Amino acid sequence: MQKLLINGKKELSGKISISGSKNATLPILAATILSHQVELKNIPLVRDIFTMIDLLKFIGLKISILKNKKIITINNTNKNIKTLAPYKLVKTMRAGVLVLGPLLAKYKKAKISLPGGCAIGSRPVNLHLLALKKLGAKIKIKNGYIFAEAKNGLKGAKITFPSISVGATENAVLAAFNAKGKTILKNCAIEPEVKDLIKFLNTLGGRIKIVGRKILIIGCKINKKHITHEVIFDRIELGTYMIAAALVGKKIILDKINPSIIRNEVDILKKMGVRLKVKRSTIEILKSNKIKKINLSTKPYPGFPTDLQAQLMVLMTRAQGISRITESIFENRFMHVPELKRMGANIEIKNKIAIVKGPSKLTGAEVMATDLRASVSLVLAGLVADNRTIINRIYHLDRGYEFLEKKLKNCKARIRRI
Ligand code: EPZ
Repeated sequence: MQKLLINGKKELSGKISISGSKNATLPILAATILSHQVELKNIPLVRDIFTMIDLLKFIGLKISILKNKKIITINNTNKNIKTLAPYKLVKTMRAGVLVLGPLLAKYKKAKISLPGGCAIGSRPVNLHLLALKKLGAKIKIKNGYIFAEAKNGLKGAKITFPSISVGATENAVLAAFNAKGKTILKNCAIEPEVKDLIKFLNTLGGRIKIVGRKILIIGCKINKKHITHEVIFDRIELGTYMIAAALVGKKIILDKINPSIIRNEVDILKKMGVRLKVKRSTIEILKSNKIKKINLSTKPYPGFPTDLQAQLMVLMTRAQGISRITESIFENRFMHVPELKRMGANIEIKNKIAIVKGPSKLTGAEVMATDLRASVSLVLAGLVADNRTIINRIYHLDRGYEFLEKKLKNCKARIRRI
C-alpha cells in the first residue's frame, strides 16, 4: 500500500493549474450512452474516471483516452450493448448508478448494482428511483440489483424532489432527455457540475433549461452528429489548494478557473482573513498572518460545499478562537476529526457540529485516510504540522486529485509518495 510522506512547515510559492472536474466528468461520461460520437476535453486523469470508463466499455461503448492531451473519445455505434452495471464496477465508484437514467432512456431497460454506502454515509438512491418511477419506469430491487424497465419508453412528468440530491437530479435529467413530452423537475441540485451536464446534453440536441431550482426538459430526438465538450474546472480541487495556500502559502497563483462560480467560498475565506486577489481566470493567495474564527454550515450549491468541509476544518485549527462547522449534507463526514486530533487539533463533535478551538499547534504523525476529502485534509494538516506526517491508504486521494504531489512539489512542498 502506498503512503504519502510530508515534511511540514515549508512555505509554498508558485503556480497550480486546476484540473477538470471529476464530478462533472462522471455524469457526462454516463450521458455519452445517449450519444454517438463524442470528444471530451479537460478530463481529470483520476481513478474514478477510469472506473467509469471501464463500466462504459463493459456496457459496450468504444472509448479511447489521449492521456497527454486529457481527451477521451467515445463511439457508441456498437449494436450489442449490455444494459448492465455489475457489482464489481459499481461497488468502488457509486457514481456508476448514473448510467441507469441514460440506459433506460435509450434502451428502455437496465440492471444496475445498488451502490453500496461508503465511509461518509449510507448513500441511498431512493430519490433517483422516485424520479424514474414518475417518468414511467417499472423498478424492482432484487439480489442487490435495481431492475428497471420502460417497455414503451419514458414519458415526461412533473417531479418535486423531497430533498436536494446532485445524483438524483442528474439521473432524472438523463432519463427525461428523450422522454415523450415535457418534464418539470423541482427542488433540484444546481451545482456547476449539474449545469455542465446540461450544457453537454443541450449540445447533444437536448432542450433543457434551468430556472432557479427548477429544470425544464422537452424530450428530444438524439442527434447523430459528432460533438465536442470541454469539462469545467474542479471547484473542489481549487478550494482545496486555496486553503493550502492560506495555511502555508507565501504567494500562490491558481489558474485555469472561473472565479464567478466560487464566490461563496472566496467570501468565506476573506472573512477568515485570507488575503486573496481574484482575477479573470486566476486567484492569487498571499501569506495570511492572522486567521479569524468563523461559524458555518455545509449546504447545497451555492452554499458552502460539503466536499470542502474537512479541508476548511484544518484552516479553522489556525484561527484565533472557537469556530463551528455543521455538516448538514452527510450523516458521517467527520472521519478526519480523530486523525486531526492525533496531530494536535482541538476539535469536539456535538451531533453534526464540529467545534474547533484554535490556534492549535499541529505536529506530524502517522495517520490514515478514510475517504477522498478526509484524506486531502490530512495532506493539508501535514503541510502545516511540525516534523513528518505519513498518510496511509492514499488510494482514496488518487480517486479525485490529479497529480497532487507534483502540483504541491512545484510550489516547493516537501512531499513524496513511498
Ligand atoms: C455528489 O454525490 C458528489 N459526487 C459528492 O462528492 C458530493 O459530496 C455530493 O454530491 C453533495 O454535493 C459526485 O458528484 C460524483 P447527493 P451524490 O445525492 O450525488 C442523500 C466527492 O468527494 N440522498 O447530493 O451522491 C444523501 O445520502 C463526492 O467528490 C438520499 O437520501 O450526493 C446525502 O445525505 C463525495 N437519497 C444527500 O442526499 C438519494 O436518492 C446529498 O446527496 C440520494 C441522496
